[in-house]
Amino acid sequence: MAMPAEKADRLRSSRLYGGVGRTVARMLRKHGADPQVESVPVMAAPAALPGRTQPSDPELQSAVQSIRRLSWYHTIDLGNGLVTPGMTDHRPFVDLYQLPESLDGLRCLDVGSLDGFWAFEMERRGAAEVVATDVAAWDQWDMRAESGGLMPTDQTMGDCFQLAHRLLRSIVRRETCSVYELSAERFGKFDLVLISDVLAHLRDPELALERVFGVTRGEVLIAEVYSPALEVFGDARLLEFKGGPAPSAWWVPNTNALKEMIVAAGFDAAQELARFVWPARGVNSDGVAVVNRAAKVILRAKAGQPGTGDQAPRTAGTSQEMAPALSHAGSSR
Ligand SMILES: C[S@@+](CC[C@H](N)C(=O)[O-])C[C@H]1O[C@@H](n2cnc3c(N)ncnc32)[C@H](O)[C@@H]1O
Repeated sequence: MAMPAEKADRLRSSRLYGGVGRTVARMLRKHGADPQVESVPVMAAPAALPGRTQPSDPELQSAVQSIRRLSWYHTIDLGNGLVTPGMTDHRPFVDLYQLPESLDGLRCLDVGSLDGFWAFEMERRGAAEVVATDVAAWDQWDMRAESGGLMPTDQTMGDCFQLAHRLLRSIVRRETCSVYELSAERFGKFDLVLISDVLAHLRDPELALERVFGVTRGEVLIAEVYSPALEVFGDARLLEFKGGPAPSAWWVPNTNALKEMIVAAGFDAAQELARFVWPARGVNSDGVAVVNRAAKVILRAKAGQPGTGDQAPRTAGTSQEMAPALSHAGSSR
């Protein structure tokens, strides 16, 4: 599909697409399962409107304008026919994560939430409380000094989240916090923690997993890109060092390594829920919007019951609160 010049210009000049978007896109392209990048240009979907016309309701009209002013990472259905024009649409893959249908009564945490897709999904499933954490600003991503960091953006980290939050009338609590700073002292412990597409961006993913363990009393769901090229070495636990330039990928593991990292952080053995090829919208080096494909794995691991001895936390987080049971009706568990 040819992209109208005006749209292409907007994409190129959009600092989010040009900065974070391109960063993520390059990262995914570099360690995708399928090194092919679909080079067919695609147009970021416009904020969906009823019938693609301006709605007559002034409130809806104003929502549409606000949505269009921002560059979205997540495609989020905000109701009333409004869907944010995100470069990443998790919706077709949600079932693969095997989130319990009902999170009734549970405390949930979405680490590295960005526009909040997963946090809002957990809220939609009835969680008693959802906390969404992220760093305060784009320049707080781990980045090699000489890379110059991500491009500055005229959009503040959290702008999209806040707008979606308002339009969804959400009560998700957004907190500025690096994954490295998560602690049970600050947040208490959670029944379900989701950390999706964050580890590859971190210089120290093992420390991040330890911090996640420190705030988990139930289960963690980890979705991460992995390297299919490193899957063919038997039991070897391998990670490819990407070096942390901008784009900001540091380590891309094979699934053996990721599973062992999860155990090393204190969790029980990880259960693999799914592998799939993840299409992510991005922008190539010529500024053309493309769909990139990456191999992604979804893993689930229990924090174990505190106090039973063998699962004593090996790191921070010593709360002895008991975890309500998570029910996985219909899952393979
Ligand atoms: C590729 S986005 C993934 C967003 C979302 N979790 C998802 O699955 O779509 C990476 C996220 O990790 C966040 N991130 C980067 N460094 C972080 C850190 N040190 N602590 C917490 N989040 C971080 C980014 O700000 C961004 O929100």
